[in-house]
Amino acid sequence: MSDITILGIFVADISFSGDKIPIEGETILGDSYNVGPGGKGCNQAIAISRLGGKVNFISKIGNDEYGKLAINNFKKDNIDISNIIISKKHKTGVAGIHIDRNTGKNAITVVRGAPASLTREEIDTNKIKQSKIFLTQLEVPLDVTLYCLKAAKENGLINILNPAPACKLSNEFFKLVDYFTPNETEAEYYTGIKIINETDAKKSALKLIKMGIKNVIITLGEKGLFFSNGIENIYIKSIQVKAIDTTGAGDAFNGGFTLALLKGKKIKECLEFANRVAGLSTTKLGAGDSMPTLNELN
Ligand code: RIB
Repeated sequence: MSDITILGIFVADISFSGDKIPIEGETILGDSYNVGPGGKGCNQAIAISRLGGKVNFISKIGNDEYGKLAINNFKKDNIDISNIIISKKHKTGVAGIHIDRNTGKNAITVVRGAPASLTREEIDTNKIKQSKIFLTQLEVPLDVTLYCLKAAKENGLINILNPAPACKLSNEFFKLVDYFTPNETEAEYYTGIKIINETDAKKSALKLIKMGIKNVIITLGEKGLFFSNGIENIYIKSIQVKAIDTTGAGDAFNGGFTLALLKGKKIKECLEFANRVAGLSTTKLGAGDSMPTLNELN
């Protein structure tokens, strides 16, 4: 039985590393490329599993080469794949990622492929019901996400929503979520507050709490993170590393946080653990491939 269920997508991340991220109309010569596992849900599942957690991943892939890459990676990382639907009609998705090798920053386009056609009827909620925490993002169709959040809540699970990529959400979502984990850009999308410093992060978190969310964690990249539940406020600095690729750092954070929460750690410990997992993930190339093991973390 998996204590954590994740709903999300797998895509093959095709990453190009170069001296800069090209701007509109520009062609640049890069220095390397890599094809590896990606998609926020997949990356979060890999993060949890490598840290020693049991995770069930609900997703949809195609019956093609990238679909095989998905299954091989899930098996290698001991992820429960009994809820992975293999579609004969749709292709496995792909993400094109440009990485600035000097800063590790990126720009991403995701073409979701098969999971864009995921329906409520295809979801077996039994696995969700047997878990303790449900973690999801906004890369599968919204009605499916809402359906699973409701099933999880009705069965007493803790719901964690990583609201990425940012998109318009109804109030229903906010009420079902126990932990809301945007990055600073996504938080600005939901609140209209631009985050430059800790004070802005606090304002933004409090606004989200007024919207019905119980706990807010805003990840601030190299500036760290901010947590609030309206009573307790915690700011934590990021760990100092030489980032070579920040793709998937948010996913590493969400995975680490979810696992620490499952283990019953206090909120500050959960945040510190997740912060270290995220920091370490930026020192390796790739998204799913960059998730650290517990040994590496220690
Ligand atoms: O969070 C990083 C991920 O976002 C990448 O792996 C990419 O596939 C997109 O889904």
